[in-house]
Amino acid sequence: TRADKGEHKHFMAKEIAEQPIVVAEAIRSYLPTGGDRVALPDADLDFSKLDRLTMVACGTAFYACLTAKYWFEQLAKMPVEVDIASEFRYREPPITDRTLALFVSQSGETADTLAALRYCEGKADKIVSVVNVPESSIARESDIALPIHAGVEIGVASTKAFTCQLSVLLMLALKAAADRGTMTDEDIADHAAALRGLPTVLNAALDQNRAIRKAAQRLSEARDVLFLGRGLMYPLAMEGALKLKEISYIHAEGYASGELKHGPIALIDKHMPVVVMAPRDTVFDKTVSNMQEVMARKGKVILVSDDDGIDEAGDGVWSTIRMPHVHTSLAPILYSVPAQLLAYHTAVAKGTDVDQPRNLAKSVTVE
Ligand code: AGP
Repeated sequence: TRADKGEHKHFMAKEIAEQPIVVAEAIRSYLPTGGDRVALPDADLDFSKLDRLTMVACGTAFYACLTAKYWFEQLAKMPVEVDIASEFRYREPPITDRTLALFVSQSGETADTLAALRYCEGKADKIVSVVNVPESSIARESDIALPIHAGVEIGVASTKAFTCQLSVLLMLALKAAADRGTMTDEDIADHAAALRGLPTVLNAALDQNRAIRKAAQRLSEARDVLFLGRGLMYPLAMEGALKLKEISYIHAEGYASGELKHGPIALIDKHMPVVVMAPRDTVFDKTVSNMQEVMARKGKVILVSDDDGIDEAGDGVWSTIRMPHVHTSLAPILYSVPAQLLAYHTAVAKGTDVDQPRNLAKSVTVE
């Protein structure tokens, strides 16, 4: 039934566990079997005719947009702007008729996001939304509404909607790249194969539940926690921090690893856990050197990486969380699982109300 936790103690736990299935569903519906090309059969959308993409959202959906900026820029060579809806709507940003305006919202009812969408009406070439609720206001008022297929999400902390949003946004970036001729067929095929393998690696990430719970036990003693990431892992660092503060009430901040020395490093001492999200990618060595700056100041590092990364840089860290190998472009989707589980188990250890955190509503329909 709709509101059934099954074997799980909380909806959030159930929704985290469902991700391999719902992400598979999202991928199946945009990436037809037997082909490498993303298909949007009912949508008249050609990215080669567009100059710019403007993405607007709130909260977790905003971090999905920030991640997608890296994909659209790198894969489709498209200039992208990302904004928080409550800022965007009053700033009077110029929108041209060669701009695609894209709104991301789980509920499709967030007041600020809806107002931002209305601001773009009659200005942008097209209004596209990436939503979980197909009959929502944001979906209805868009020229094209793309469903994420996450199913009903009940936990106030968004989890499966985030990974489904990311999956759909990555596929949209691949479509943009194909329209604009910016990727080789081989590269597109590699991405398609990696997307199809995503449910399997998500399951492997979920299998790390015990190690993550152990690390969370330690986090639950902290007053502040820092999350670090670079490149595609930077928005995820902010999402991990948001999850933790929402449900465990521990103060957390997500920072770009390279920005550490411009301020937050002053906070580091033996009481400060620092979660480092670092798959073995092109910026790995840089992230590791930032991580070592933390360790030199006695900060307690929880390193989330793959086998290669942990072998190379895991010495002397406080905890490690081992992720399976994955195509670099897909790492933020996979690494969402440890970010979510860290927050979840920390909240459980603290005894807070995981599904209904204080002061928060599932959908913010007032300004
Ligand atoms: C996420 O865990 C939050 N509770 C919140 O930030 C949420 O993502 C935001 O309010 C946006 O909601 P929407 O996706 O329904 O528009």
